[in-house]
Amino acid sequence: MKISIAAAFVSVFAASALASPSTSGKPPSNAVYKNPHASVEARVKDLLSRMTWEEKQAQLIQGDVRHYVDANNHVNKTALQSMAPNEAGAMFAAMIPRDDLAIAINATQSFLLHDTRLGIPSLMQSEGIHGYLDLNGTLFTSPLGFACSFNPDLVEELGDIVGSEAESMGVNNIFAPVLDLSRELRWGRVEENYGEDPHLTGELGYAFVTGLQGSKKAGTGKSAKYRVASMVKHFVAFGSPEGGLNTAPVAGGERDLRSLYLPPFKRAIKDAGALSIMSAYHSYDGVPAAANSHAMNDVLRGEWDFKGFVSSDAGAIDFLCSIHHICETSTNGVTNPAPAIIALNAGNDMEMAGSTMHYLTTVDQVKKGNLKASVVDEAVSRILRVKFLLGLFENPWTASNYNKVIHSKANVEFARKVDEESIVLLENDGTLPISESIESIAVIGPQANVMQYGDYVLHGVFERGVTPLAGIQSYVGKSTKVNYAEGCKLWSNDESEFKAAVKAAKKSKVAVVMVGTWSRDQNELWQGLNATTGEHVDVNDLALVGAQLKLVKAIQATGTPTVVVYISGKPIAEPWIKDNVNAVVQAFYPGEQGGNALANILFGKVNPSGKLSVSFPTYVGSLPSYYNYNKGGRSIDPGHIYANGTLVFGHQYVLGTPVPMWLFGHGLSYTTFTYESVKVAQSKISAKASQVEVEVKVKNSGKVDGQEVVQVYINDVVSSVVTPVMALKGFKKVAIKAGKTVTVKIPIKISELALWAQSQKYVVEPGVFQVYVGGSAETATLATNFTVY
Ligand SMILES: *[C@@H]1O[C@H](CO)[C@@H](O)[C@H](O)[C@H]1NC(C)=O
Ligand SMILES: *[C@@H]1O[C@H](CO)[C@@H](O)[C@H](O)[C@H]1NC(C)=O
Ligand SMILES: *[C@@H]1O[C@H](CO)[C@@H](O)[C@H](O)[C@H]1NC(C)=O
Ligand SMILES: *[C@@H]1O[C@H](CO)[C@@H](O)[C@H](O)[C@H]1NC(C)=O
Ligand SMILES: *[C@@H]1O[C@H](CO)[C@@H](O)[C@H](O)[C@H]1NC(C)=O
Ligand SMILES: *[C@@H]1O[C@H](CO)[C@@H](O)[C@H](O)[C@H]1NC(C)=O
Repeated sequence: MKISIAAAFVSVFAASALASPSTSGKPPSNAVYKNPHASVEARVKDLLSRMTWEEKQAQLIQGDVRHYVDANNHVNKTALQSMAPNEAGAMFAAMIPRDDLAIAINATQSFLLHDTRLGIPSLMQSEGIHGYLDLNGTLFTSPLGFACSFNPDLVEELGDIVGSEAESMGVNNIFAPVLDLSRELRWGRVEENYGEDPHLTGELGYAFVTGLQGSKKAGTGKSAKYRVASMVKHFVAFGSPEGGLNTAPVAGGERDLRSLYLPPFKRAIKDAGALSIMSAYHSYDGVPAAANSHAMNDVLRGEWDFKGFVSSDAGAIDFLCSIHHICETSTNGVTNPAPAIIALNAGNDMEMAGSTMHYLTTVDQVKKGNLKASVVDEAVSRILRVKFLLGLFENPWTASNYNKVIHSKANVEFARKVDEESIVLLENDGTLPISESIESIAVIGPQANVMQYGDYVLHGVFERGVTPLAGIQSYVGKSTKVNYAEGCKLWSNDESEFKAAVKAAKKSKVAVVMVGTWSRDQNELWQGLNATTGEHVDVNDLALVGAQLKLVKAIQATGTPTVVVYISGKPIAEPWIKDNVNAVVQAFYPGEQGGNALANILFGKVNPSGKLSVSFPTYVGSLPSYYNYNKGGRSIDPGHIYANGTLVFGHQYVLGTPVPMWLFGHGLSYTTFTYESVKVAQSKISAKASQVEVEVKVKNSGKVDGQEVVQVYINDVVSSVVTPVMALKGFKKVAIKAGKTVTVKIPIKISELALWAQSQKYVVEPGVFQVYVGGSAETATLATNFTVY
């Protein structure tokens, strides 16, 4: 009896304090929220006022289309009708065959729109960090790879292709881009990021979001603005886990947060208008990301005025208790509401699917008074807002022509172009480019005849794409003899195949040896036990595994000119290779056209123009290797680091060096670029000005046309808190014809010169700012300065 009294009390309480006006029966067809011409805010408000607590809770939950398909991937109508209404905020819509998925998406939206009381369509979510997640979707080079293009226009177009392929399927929320910084290279997820630098990451994040979200979808109402919502991840400061171990705590304080980790997100969210955000798994300075009210409420909403929603990563709400222990784990099969209350209060609006769905306790906790109704209403409003902005109430459908849109000829062609701009030439003594009329070429190594796409692709994609061997074979045709030998397996220490590889090298004029890392064991659905990069695949060494280095040494010992191609998801630390082979090329997990792009570069049809998005340490023990370390970090006088073009380090390790092998921004060409002069438009500039323009004259002083990435680094010479020795603040990729000189104008935003002062505010401090320009962080030696007043 007690129970029913309590229940009666709850319902009275709910009716008086919590219930919204008309929560029964279907709303009239002229309801404001159904009017595509009404403003988004009016529609949100109207719809919210009609919802029951159960309907609100459903909006906070991510479901999965696979929850209600049968073994043949056909929609089970009974299951759809019973499940979809309870997990209606979003559906993970992936990992079933394309035609079945298209039908399932349409069936879900049709049911939700026509057969539920309020008719609220769902967000259809999928992955897309380097291609829309489909077995035959256009597959681009890894994000770490395309970041090496230093080309925002290219990245915007790439984002546009991912968006258009997703849109055609009726998928409208893509978990990309990843804006974590690759500052801890032992971490397995380095390949998902845009490298180590906050400015480059921010510019490319802006470009990707702009391309992905596009403009409004056809057949949507006046209030719709975008076709696909970007879900920027992982908020925030995820990329430097302790020990390089995935999801481990990240150390740092407010200054690192403000100076390093937040700026790229601000660019993608505030400037490009990303509609959704994924919070991270880890804790930063002791606060788990999904419970970080400071990041999600104060900064994101308070300072940036973000109006979209935040979703947790899969299982992350449960991790608040089970991993971070800021709450007690559930007991006796009863779901603990604590993590849901913590996360919702902290501004984490949606719960992504996990083993325990804590947000299913929302209704109960509101009714018990443990969770403020206004917090839930706010979270629901943010999710509904995105649905209206996407025009989902008018057009949530899969297009009938998705098979024509996905993997179109033009998209595939573009994938090759992205690879051509992203492959980096690290070392070259003139062996490259290889003459097209060369008699013979040895193609060697465990990476030569496989596709390595890295993470966030579907099992089954490895069977398609142009391998390096296939690319080279089709480039040279019949006139050149290609001598292929695998040499060794990726993982194994077995050297028994070396003999055949050495033989192939000996009878060839040049040997190209392809070694590296891999993210998937090709026989496994997810990462194999012996993958060396990828999510949950962290390493305590950055050297090549197995017999790979020995293989390179054996080939080099033949005396045949030897080119090493690294196909990897992160920097490989092998100083012997840098010092002993004739040329080194870096391809960070190429896309499906990677083999063709690589051949075009090796034979000089395309002049390489990629620049490293991440520095290469000499060995794992010298981490961190990022170029933009804070003054004092490597005990050097920042004013004189590059004074004579040489890295001058004050301290050395007893048996080694902290000097990275190749620094951020490095990448050679088949021509040479000479930096002739640099000047700033104003030598004195107000701290309140919007920008200062840096003008650089660059000459293509070689014999072939090429593209150069002109880089501008800034050093705040004297500052009230410690600042980086230098930090990229502007760059431009320019094509320069052989023998020609161009003047490149690069604007530097004054706001980007701000530091996070002891007053806990961004301040652009008066004083001298040194400007370094050049083709990499290492060669940016041409200097000038300006004074801020
Ligand atoms: C469809 O779903 C219902 C309810 O979940 C279940 O009872 C039934 O066995 C399913 N049918 C098939 C063919 O999977
Ligand atoms: C995917 O591509 C393969 C060939 O690479 C082809 O056999 C298959 O039919 C394609 N499937 C779809 C759904 O396009
Ligand atoms: C999905 O439904 C829409 C609207 O009814 C229709 O135009 C479209 O062709 C359907 N798509 C598929 C793949 O059936
Ligand atoms: C992974 O290890 C297994 C067993 O040791 C081996 O059979 C397999 O070839 C390895 N995979 C790769 C990609 O090297
Ligand atoms: C650059 O300066 C450093 C320190 O004075 C010196 O050790 C080094 O030899 C110089 N390098 C060149 C190329 O002059
Ligand atoms: C700044 O540049 C001016 C003119 O190029 C030069 O005279 C001056 O020494 C520079 N100052 C600093 C602090 O580098």
